[in-house]
Amino acid sequence: MGWIERWTQEDRGRFRAGVVRARHRLADSGLFCDPALEELIETHPRERLDIAMMDEGGSSRSWTDLSPGERNGADLLAGAREGRVWMNLREVFNIRPEYRALLGAVFAELRELHPRFRPDVIKGGLLISAPGARVPFHIDRTDPMLWHLRGKKRVYVYPRSAPVLNEADVEGVLIHPFNDDLPYKSAFDTRAQVFDLEPGEVLCWPVHTPHRVVNLEGLNVSMATDYTCHDVRVRNHAMMFNGLIRRRLGLTPSIEDSRGLGLAARAGLGFTARKLKLLPKAGMPALAAEAAAPVAEAGLAG
Ligand SMILES: [Fe+2]
Repeated sequence: MGWIERWTQEDRGRFRAGVVRARHRLADSGLFCDPALEELIETHPRERLDIAMMDEGGSSRSWTDLSPGERNGADLLAGAREGRVWMNLREVFNIRPEYRALLGAVFAELRELHPRFRPDVIKGGLLISAPGARVPFHIDRTDPMLWHLRGKKRVYVYPRSAPVLNEADVEGVLIHPFNDDLPYKSAFDTRAQVFDLEPGEVLCWPVHTPHRVVNLEGLNVSMATDYTCHDVRVRNHAMMFNGLIRRRLGLTPSIEDSRGLGLAARAGLGFTARKLKLLPKAGMPALAAEAAAPVAEAGLAG
């Protein structure tokens, strides 16, 4: 029996182009019970362990990094059961053999479901967070999938279009070395799709789709995977180039107007600009941001 369940014909048509909500049975692996989590946390390389706290609103400005110090895995897991602690064991599904095997098996199933799906980099981290934890409004640079395992959480998924998101916003994230957060307005929530995730559910949405997460109940544990496909690498580099000319020259490029050779040329120039460190400083405002074209809702699958 496979790890992925109820991935319908409709889901096959939507994958990477829209939101897919299906089921999985990863918890049956036995890799996510308390003793396993304690051992994982204790032995995970400290340079790949992120621990943070946030205030009640969960704004990115309120996020504060915490150090694991000398605390053992049981103490750190106990800490994550309370308050607003959030922990990410980055790439644990790439490092630990038994978890890497599970990630490989899950993506082998996805490739069976989608024969043209060719991710060339697949990463998996384990998110462990307290009942009161929140993740602020942001986009991811590659396609994300959230495989929920324990607890309950609410995921808000917003449209990739104005007024929620402009291309200049996406470019600003892509040229920044690490910040993925975007300015959030509560008025955006009327445009969001809202999903209350239970253990055993998987949710995914197209790359660059804004989202935020509010934990609802219990210790929350999820496998968070991201993968890169050729089309997204091309799109990201083309948008870096667009970000460069928007900020340096005041032009108003649109990724949706770029196709074929034009898109490839922009991607090549963006790649070169990144390698030569010619991209604008991350905080540099877009000269023509107010005139920026909205990101279209069109799918990216291919
Ligand atoms: Fe995300």
